[in-house]
Amino acid sequence: METEAVLAHYPENDASTLIPILQDIQGIYGYLPEPDLQKVSRYTSMPMSRIYGVATFYNQFRLNPVGRYIIRVCRGTACHVKGSFDILTTLENELDIKAGETTKDRLFTIETVACIGACSIAPVIAIGDEFYGKLDAKKVKQLLRNLRKADKE
Ligand code: FES
Repeated sequence: METEAVLAHYPENDASTLIPILQDIQGIYGYLPEPDLQKVSRYTSMPMSRIYGVATFYNQFRLNPVGRYIIRVCRGTACHVKGSFDILTTLENELDIKAGETTKDRLFTIETVACIGACSIAPVIAIGDEFYGKLDAKKVKQLLRNLRKADKE
């Protein structure tokens, strides 16, 4: 289903439909592509500035493409004390991107997050519903190798 098909499900010129429309579009592409937001703007008669305002206010929405694996690196206090900075640096060096970015092959995105509630196994990263704890640089490199390998299978 494409953006036009999403829009066809909603009444025209109705500002109250913006959030469900954005959710549906993100459901298709994994983020909100700019050309599609322009279609939404025309359809709902809302200015782009307002649409961007909503899309950036709610952190459920993404304005950039994300990778198949979204690696969330905990930067909470317990993880910080146990070396989360090294974990983040290792990921950034290995993947050649910075936090908030996605690899060119669209396999990995790195995000930093506040405490994810697994302090007892700090430092922690989460990928989807999986938590990986008590990490060090070596384990992070191994994990990336495993994920790349799993992706090829
Ligand atoms: S500080 Fe990282 S899980 Fe709590």
